[in-house]
Amino acid sequence: MLDTAPRYQVLADELREAMRDGRLPGGSRLPSVREAAASRGISINTVLAAYRQLEARGLLEARPQAGYFVRAHLGSPPPWAQETPPTRTARPAAGAVLTRIATVLAAQTQPDTIDLSLACPKGGDFYPGERLGRIVADLSRRRPALLTDYSLPPGPTLLRQEICRHAQDLGLALQPDAILLTNGCMEALQLALRAVTRPGDTVGLESPTYFNLIPLLERLGLKSIEIPTHPDSGLALDALELLLAERRLQAVVAMPNVHNPLGTSMAVAAKKRLAALVNEYRVPLIEDALYAELQYATPLPPAVKAFDRDGWVIVCASYTKTLAPGLRMGWMEGGRFARELAELKFCASVAQPALLGEAIGVFLESGGYRQHLRRLRRLYAAQTDRLRALIGAAFPPGTRATQPTGGFLVWVELPPGCDTQRLFDAALARGISITPGSLYSPSGRHTRHLRLSGCYPFTARHVEALHTLGELAGAQGRAGA
Ligand SMILES: Cc1ncc(COP(=O)(O)O)c(C=O)c1O
Repeated sequence: MLDTAPRYQVLADELREAMRDGRLPGGSRLPSVREAAASRGISINTVLAAYRQLEARGLLEARPQAGYFVRAHLGSPPPWAQETPPTRTARPAAGAVLTRIATVLAAQTQPDTIDLSLACPKGGDFYPGERLGRIVADLSRRRPALLTDYSLPPGPTLLRQEICRHAQDLGLALQPDAILLTNGCMEALQLALRAVTRPGDTVGLESPTYFNLIPLLERLGLKSIEIPTHPDSGLALDALELLLAERRLQAVVAMPNVHNPLGTSMAVAAKKRLAALVNEYRVPLIEDALYAELQYATPLPPAVKAFDRDGWVIVCASYTKTLAPGLRMGWMEGGRFARELAELKFCASVAQPALLGEAIGVFLESGGYRQHLRRLRRLYAAQTDRLRALIGAAFPPGTRATQPTGGFLVWVELPPGCDTQRLFDAALARGISITPGSLYSPSGRHTRHLRLSGCYPFTARHVEALHTLGELAGAQGRAGA
């Protein structure tokens, strides 16, 4: 069939498609009318007609003397305190969070489901798998004792030295002897909680927080208090100080660098104040630094542990998001709790697999890790820009989203009338999986929020799925308004 659409319409449709799939993000400047006409071999009037049509539809904005810009729809979500309090029905029954996490994970592993939320990078582009595979094969051939000897703590010296060398990039001066290797960051968090609390104690959690912490606390017989966060600047330190001063917390868990699910980080001054507070009140801070190396800024902003005076900060991390989730290699530095932590680890699982530990050590020593991280940071910064652009194009007006400072997670707030638990069900019926906001709060807060992730290649199916999700959210908002 002949394409009979006028030229200006062809151009307008092309630009709209680029905005729709995120290639032209909100805020970007279009080529000037003259440039566009020259590069496409069309008349100035044709370009003007296309731009004016998009402007009339609210997709472009003309700024005097500056040109045409794609309208940005996304603002940051407001601080937590401005939110409506959780409703009774939104509050999950005790112990139900694990069941809900299992439902979400089961949804994400269904072969035909498009997963928009999982924080597990998908695809060879995100991991140096081949290189690691070669190192593992080479080591098992040259040093078979890595498999046949019983691996005892403290584990490969090379790896512990390399962990310390790389930790300097986060402002940390750590000693290899103080590094405890763990089964991922999750085991480090668990050991830390067990070392510093007793059943019945209360732990301060950021709200929202990493959802696995909620059932973990429950299993350890611990209570939690949700501390508000600001979507852009993290943990509310005044609220924390009040709780510390009233002696209501026996420990605090926080993600000051690239928070999950917010995707944002605390400012350096706030990190210093956080370290000072926990030292002053002598309350242990468990710093989850899992995403810290994925901060986009260079040099890397420091971890809170960098300002720890008397060993009250326990820092926990792993290579799950940077090298390979299957390695399950994590580490921690326990400050004044180091001895207790080493004993707990020994009782729990003795040590980590020596072959994998050695292989990561070799990779880190070769310089490959720094190079890989540099690439990952650029890649994820572009991915989250694209994701935000897609959200801006696909979601209803009034939607807000965080601007990540690292990693690949974006925290989205939908307009009033939306409920992301219901959205989860509706989306799943259309083969799309998300994580509803209430999963990230022990009391079921954040019912208008969801976490989206940009750690997969954006295929046409992903773009379509985001648009479907946006339409479902829009329909919910209209029905609830
Ligand atoms: C913030 C945070 N901490 C800890 C973990 C657990 O990490 P690992 O898989 O290394 O145990 C995750 C996993 O997604 C996470 O997002």
